[in-house]
Amino acid sequence: MTASSGTIKVGDKTVDLPVKTGTIGPDVLDIGALYGKTGMFTYDPGFTSTAACESQITYIDGDEGVLLYRGYPIEQLAEHGDFLETCYLLLYGELPTGAQKADFDYRITRHTMIHEQMVRFFQGFRRDAHPMAVMVGCVGALSAFYHDSTDISDPNQRMVASMRMIAKMPTLAAMAYKYNVGQPFMYPRNDLDYSSNFLRMCFGVPAEEYKVSPVLARALDRIFILHADHEQNASTSTVRLAGSSGANPFACIAAGIACLWGPAHGGANEAALKMLSEIGSVENIPKFVAKAKDKNDPFRLMGFGHRVYKNYDPRAKIMQKTAHEVLNELGIKDDPLLDVAVELERIALHDEYFIEKKLYPNIDFYSGITLKAMGFPVSMFTVLFALARTVGWIAQWSEMIKDPHQKIGRPRQLYTGAPRRDYVPVSKR
Ligand code: SDX
Repeated sequence: MTASSGTIKVGDKTVDLPVKTGTIGPDVLDIGALYGKTGMFTYDPGFTSTAACESQITYIDGDEGVLLYRGYPIEQLAEHGDFLETCYLLLYGELPTGAQKADFDYRITRHTMIHEQMVRFFQGFRRDAHPMAVMVGCVGALSAFYHDSTDISDPNQRMVASMRMIAKMPTLAAMAYKYNVGQPFMYPRNDLDYSSNFLRMCFGVPAEEYKVSPVLARALDRIFILHADHEQNASTSTVRLAGSSGANPFACIAAGIACLWGPAHGGANEAALKMLSEIGSVENIPKFVAKAKDKNDPFRLMGFGHRVYKNYDPRAKIMQKTAHEVLNELGIKDDPLLDVAVELERIALHDEYFIEKKLYPNIDFYSGITLKAMGFPVSMFTVLFALARTVGWIAQWSEMIKDPHQKIGRPRQLYTGAPRRDYVPVSKR
């Protein structure tokens, strides 16, 4: 971490502040001393120019459309590895050897069951509860069942909680789906790989053997890899902030799930598919593109745009390829939603407005089409995003806990409310 310094002139004060340089990417101006030296705060409500932490996990170059997990390009990991290998990489920083991978797979596989009493926990929800509401509740409730892995000061308990979360999210997600459709829960099986297990827990029934499609299992595993981590996005920042108070890891991940649910974030895959269905046909696209460009219309093209990517989201390219693979595997020749998506993308990428604002399809644009084709209801799309992102949240949370400089996150504000004034009795108001 090479260091130099920057000078800021504020009013009649000139302040020197340290500049820190990372491995790749922008330098940072360390403003920790700014308030003490100038009596002023910085102001950046959307954190568009603010680095909230130092991290070694994921790097994004939004202008070049680059995404690296621990330095490895997402394209190579999605092509050559599997999701649990990516989990190991994100958690430990290196690709596992054969023996390390076998041990990690064994440990995860044997944490996939949940405490049997949690089954009754589900009964408290209405059948039509949104599966994301169920996930927020159930993941937060894990801290009521696994007291032996909530002490964040104990590295072993942190590791056990991490394994449990990665292992149990598919089981809870599948249960949320089964509860929603009124089918019996399916227990995990130790002879199936991570994604095959999840497919069987979702689409299998006790009445017969479920045959997992290797093509669909591989496609789903790749989708999980694409969603595993993404630097300091809104839900990851939520997990870090919750964790900075010392809250237990299950509660922090529940907070991340709640934040991911928003349509501007992980909820965009559900919103994007609903948008494609609302557009309905290629003929209707120009009307919706006009709405998206109209400053007075709150409508936005869901699955387009990104805070960081001002080029094509590298994950969206892989998602598009996966969508075609899945549709071919399922023999779906002419999916009207895919026709609308491909034509909408073509129009948008040639439209002055989208070019000027650097709006490209993001990961959520094609994921919905793929997941719908696989048989998942729209309400489960963000649940799958949360399932995959759990390892990223855990890796970032763990990095924060181990950071010797870590302290509770406590931003300040620009106050524009009423100045001090005295209480007026109600008889005089
Ligand atoms: C994810 O941060 C991450 O890493 C997130 C994520 C991850 O893996 O964790 O990548 C996952 O959340 C992907 C994004 C999913 N969201 C959507 O697809 C929802 C639609 N997109 C937009 O809501 C928006 O693009 C955001 C929220 C994604 C980004 O918004 P920004 O960076 O705050 O940008 P902005 O809202 O300031 O937009 C800049 C301009 C604005 O116009 P002006 O005010 O400058 O005139 O572009 C316009 C916006 O109106 N714009 C859009 C648009 N997105 C931005 N116009 C039409 N359609 C859109 N989709």
